[in-house]
Amino acid sequence: MYEILLKQDLVPNIHLFKVVAPAVAKKAKPGQFVVVRIDEKGERIPLTVADWDEKEGSVTIVFMEVGTTTARLALLKAGNSIADFVGPLGLPTHIEKFGTVVCVAGGVGAAPIAPIAWALKKAGNKIISILGARSKDLLFWEDKLRRVSDQLIVTTDDGTYGRKGVVTEPLKELLASGEKVDQVISIGPVVMMKFCAKTTEPFGVKTIVSLNPIMVDGTGMCGCCRVAVGGKTKFACVDGPDFDGHQVDWDLLSARQRIYLDEEKCSFEQWQRNVHPEVKAHGKAKS
Ligand SMILES: Cc1cc2nc3c(=O)[nH]c(=O)nc-3n(C[C@H](O)[C@H](O)[C@H](O)COP(=O)(O)OP(=O)(O)OC[C@H]3O[C@@H](n4cnc5c(N)ncnc54)[C@H](O)[C@@H]3O)c2cc1C
Ligand code: FES
Repeated sequence: MYEILLKQDLVPNIHLFKVVAPAVAKKAKPGQFVVVRIDEKGERIPLTVADWDEKEGSVTIVFMEVGTTTARLALLKAGNSIADFVGPLGLPTHIEKFGTVVCVAGGVGAAPIAPIAWALKKAGNKIISILGARSKDLLFWEDKLRRVSDQLIVTTDDGTYGRKGVVTEPLKELLASGEKVDQVISIGPVVMMKFCAKTTEPFGVKTIVSLNPIMVDGTGMCGCCRVAVGGKTKFACVDGPDFDGHQVDWDLLSARQRIYLDEEKCSFEQWQRNVHPEVKAHGKAKS
C-alpha cells in the first residue's frame, strides 16, 4: 500500500497528493507517469509525476476530478493509502539545451509541465511559459512557473485574471514577434495541444505534446493507448507520451478518448448513488 503523506486542494476540482513511493521517486524523470489503482476493485488510471523527492521517498501527483476514479481519489485524505502506484512509466521528456523553449500549460497541465520546465532550465534553456485556465479560480502553480520562467504570460478564457483569451494567442504573437523560439512544449487538454501545434506549424517550430489517450496497463501490452503519429501506429505508454505535435492524428485521438463516454457516465451516476457509504468510510481515515 502507498500512503498519502500530504493532500492539498489546489483549486476546487484539482488536488495534489504526496505519496510514499521510494522506488518510483528513485527513478522518476520529467514527463513520466504512474498508473494508480485505489483498491483491488478499482480502475487503473495514469497520472503524470508532478514532483518527487528521492530522499523523502515521495512522489507528487496532481489530478483533476473528471469521473468516477478521480472523484473517488479526491475523497482520500492524508494517512489513507492507495493499493497500486506503478511507475515510473513512459519515456521521459527529451531534455537538452535547445535555446529558447516555450512551455504552454493549460488547466491541470501546469503540474506535469513544471518539472519539465525546471529540467530544461537546468540544461541552460531560456524558458518562456504560457499558463492558461478557464477562470482565475482554476489557476494554480503560477508561483512555481514564475520561479522557473524568464517570462510568464497568464491567460484566462473569461478575463478574470491575466490576459483574456486562450494560450494560442500569446503563443502566436511571440512567434510572429521575431523572438527566436527553438522548441515549444504543450501540455493540457487535447484541443489545446492540437491548436498549439497548429499555431506553431506555419513557423516551423518543433512542438512536443504529451498525449493522454485512455490507458490500461501502461506497459505496451493492451494496445488501448494506440495513437497515430506521422502515419504510424504508436503506443503512447511506451513510445510516448511525448510526440511531435505536427505529426499527431488529432481526430483519431479525440475519437478514441470518447469511446467509453456512455460507460463513464453510467459508472459516475452509479457511484454518485452509492457515494454516501464511501464518504462515511473515508471519514474514518486518520486525518
Ligand atoms: C500519460 C497520461 C498522464 C496523465 N496525467 C494526468 C495528470 O497528471 N493529471 C490528471 O488530472 N489527469 C491526467 N491524465 C488523465 C487521467 O488519467 C484521466 O483524467 C482519468 O483516467 C479519468 O478517470 P475517471 O475515472 O476519473 O474519469 P472517467 O469518467 O472514467 O473518464 C473521463 C475521461 O478521462 C479519460 N480517461 C478515462 N479513463 C482513462 C484511463 N484509464 N486512461 C487515460 N484516460 C482516461 C477519457 O478521456 C474519459 O473520457 C493522464 C492521462 C495519461 C494518458
Ligand atoms: S496502455 Fe496498454 S498498451 Fe499502452
